[in-house]
Amino acid sequence: MSQKRKIIGSESQKNIVKMYSTYVNKYKASFFKKLGFGIVQGERDRFHVKMLEGTRKGQPPLDLIDCRTTGGVFNLGHRHPEIIKALKEGIDAGLDIGDHHLISEQRSLLAKQMAELLPGDISKTQYCVGGGEAIDLALKLARAITQRKKIISANRAYHGVTGFALGACASNFKDIFLWGPSDFVQVPFGDINAISKVIDEDTAAVIFETIPATGGILIAPEGYFATVRELCDDKGVIMISDEVQTGLGRTGELWAIFGGLYEHEKVVPDIIVLAKGMSAGYYPIATCSYKPFIEEVFKDDPFLHISSTGGSELGCYVCRRMLDIISQPKFLEHVRKMGREFRDGLNELKKKYSNIIVDVRGRGLMWGIEFNNEVYGQVFTVYMIKNGIFADYCGNNKSTNKLMPPLIIESEDIDEILKRLDIALSEYPKKKKEVQM
Ligand SMILES: Cc1ncc(COP(=O)(O)O)c(C=O)c1O
Repeated sequence: MSQKRKIIGSESQKNIVKMYSTYVNKYKASFFKKLGFGIVQGERDRFHVKMLEGTRKGQPPLDLIDCRTTGGVFNLGHRHPEIIKALKEGIDAGLDIGDHHLISEQRSLLAKQMAELLPGDISKTQYCVGGGEAIDLALKLARAITQRKKIISANRAYHGVTGFALGACASNFKDIFLWGPSDFVQVPFGDINAISKVIDEDTAAVIFETIPATGGILIAPEGYFATVRELCDDKGVIMISDEVQTGLGRTGELWAIFGGLYEHEKVVPDIIVLAKGMSAGYYPIATCSYKPFIEEVFKDDPFLHISSTGGSELGCYVCRRMLDIISQPKFLEHVRKMGREFRDGLNELKKKYSNIIVDVRGRGLMWGIEFNNEVYGQVFTVYMIKNGIFADYCGNNKSTNKLMPPLIIESEDIDEILKRLDIALSEYPKKKKEVQM
C-alpha cells in the first residue's frame, strides 16, 4: 500500500529556516530567529495556525488562534468545507486560469454577482492578481478618465507595493526606492480641512482605506467620507475606496464605506478595490470595480490593462461560493454579534489595564489596541504569540496591535481570545527594562 506523501513537515524546521535564509530572504529568517520562535507554519484548521515544531527542543509547537488572518485573506478561517468543495468542483469541471484575452463565463458570472452586491451603480469589474495591482489599476483609471495627475491619500496609508499603489503609501515604504518628485500628496486621515486645502481641479483621485489598517485602525469622524464625496463631486475628482481589508463583511456590513463604518453613512465611491478575502484563502484574486462612466477609458483599447493570471476562472468559481456565504444576512448578523462581544471584552480589558492601554477602536471584527508607547505596542505582539494569539502590530502605527479574527468565529472562541489577551496583558512588564523577547 502506498504511503500518503508528507507535504507539511516534509523537512525539519531547522532545514526549512536554513533553506529560506539561503534562497528566499536571509534578513527575514534572522528576524524570526532573534524573536526565538519556531515560526514555520505547519497545519492549520478553522481558527488555528500551528507551527511546525516547538520553539525550543522538546517543546510542543505553538498552536495559535488566528487573529491576523493576513488582513482578511482568511475571513472564512482555514479549510472552510464549502470553499474546499468549490475548489474541487472547479478542478473536476476542467476550470483552470483561462485565457484573459477571451470572453470568460466565470469572470462574467462573478462580476454580475458583485454588481448585485456592490453599492450604488458600481457595476463593472476588472480582475487582477493582487491588491497592489488592483490599486494601480484604480489610480490609472482615475488619471485616464480625468486626464489629471494628482492623487491624494492618507499619511499613514498602505495600498500595496506596486508602482502607483506605492506612490499612495506612507514614505517608509517608498523612500528607499528613490521615489521622485511626485504627483502624490498625503494628508492626515480624517481631517476635512487638510483635504479641502489640497483638492483642486488638477486632482485625479482621492484614495483612502475606509479604516486604515497599517495606519493603526483609524476611525474617521462621522460625516468625513460623505464630505469627501461632496468635495470630489465638486472638483470632478474620482473617489476610490480601498476595501481590501474592510470589505467583504469585516465590519458586519458588506462594505465599510457603505454603512459598515457608521450605520447611517452610506457613501458610494466611484471605484472600490478588493483583494485578500476574495481569495477565500486559496486562490489569489483582486478586483477593481467601478461606475460605468469610467469604462470609457477602454474605448480605444480594450486590452489597456491586462493580467495573465488575474481573475483565474477557477479562482472566480471559488470566489462566487465565498460571496454566496458572506452575503447572507444571517452571516452578517453573526459578524455584528461577534463584533459586539469582542468590542465589549476589549473595552473591559482597556479598563483593567488602563495603565498601558490608551485606546481600543474598530468596527465589526476589526480592532486595534493602542498602547501608551511604540515599544510596548511591538513587544505585545510577542506576548500575544507566547499566549497563543496570532496577531501583530500596525506597521505605520507601532503602538497599536491589530486583531482581525476570522468572521466565522463563535462566542466561545471570542471568550478564549479575550482570556488569552488578559493573560498576555497581566504578564506584560510594567517597566521597559523588564521587556523580554
Ligand atoms: C488596505 C490594503 N490595500 C492594498 C493592499 C495590497 O494588497 P496585496 O498585498 O494583495 O498586493 C493591502 C495589503 O496588505 C492592504 O492592506
